[in-house]
Amino acid sequence: MKKLYFGSNLKMYKTIKETTDYLTSLADLTGDISREEMELFIIPSYTSLERACAFVDQHLIRLGAQNMCWEEQGQFTGEISPLMLQEAGVKLVMIGHSERRHVFRETDEEENKKVNCALEHGFTALLCIGETAEDKKYAAGPEVLRMQLKKGLFGIDAAGADRIWVAYEPVWSIGVNGTPATADYAERMHQEIKRCLRELFPETGEQIPVLYGGSVNPGNAKELIVQPSIDGLFVGRAAWQADKFNELIRSAKKAAGR
Ligand code: 13P
Repeated sequence: MKKLYFGSNLKMYKTIKETTDYLTSLADLTGDISREEMELFIIPSYTSLERACAFVDQHLIRLGAQNMCWEEQGQFTGEISPLMLQEAGVKLVMIGHSERRHVFRETDEEENKKVNCALEHGFTALLCIGETAEDKKYAAGPEVLRMQLKKGLFGIDAAGADRIWVAYEPVWSIGVNGTPATADYAERMHQEIKRCLRELFPETGEQIPVLYGGSVNPGNAKELIVQPSIDGLFVGRAAWQADKFNELIRSAKKAAGR
């Protein structure tokens, strides 16, 4: 039975206390769900990470960072090094979130340096990709996704691919002004992503989890999770209250026959 992935990026929300309260509550509420069949992860703010790692059993909730520099140290004011994240106890690093690419102008080349650095330092790397509304208008979504995967994962070998997760988050679907992708559209893009991953990693590409994110909510979670090429849901706003996220997870699991 394939494992389902559920995670949330807390973006620039929640104080340290709010984060630890949220994590404690989410761990309690979901404690009875077997982690053999579900991977649950939360990506809080940098300032919350160390306390969160001390608070939470990462077998229940894996903790991740929202970004990371590709160098261990140096003249990179405002950046966070892989050594600092290791010290905090983080296991997962998100790379190339849409807001990093579009608000902070990060490039595929930079995401690639971060992915390589994250793997070299023992992290799981969650690479986020997604086409813009304009790419979609010209039906160029598949080409854009392929380009982001090929550049973002350049230089990664089959062993490294074991610690890659991919999140497909169409830029037009994310946040308060976003429109969720239909399940049918998301499935077609996930098929394209999986095809590309198999080409890049013939032995292990099939095993790389591909999650959908972008305005996931209690209304669309079920139809998204039952799509054959969607391995999990990466949720923003609809996950930021532990009880609501727990309900969403349970209804999605049920729809998927778990
Ligand atoms: P929303 O679910 O709020 O659209 O955010 C998705 C997201 O950006 C997760 O990384």
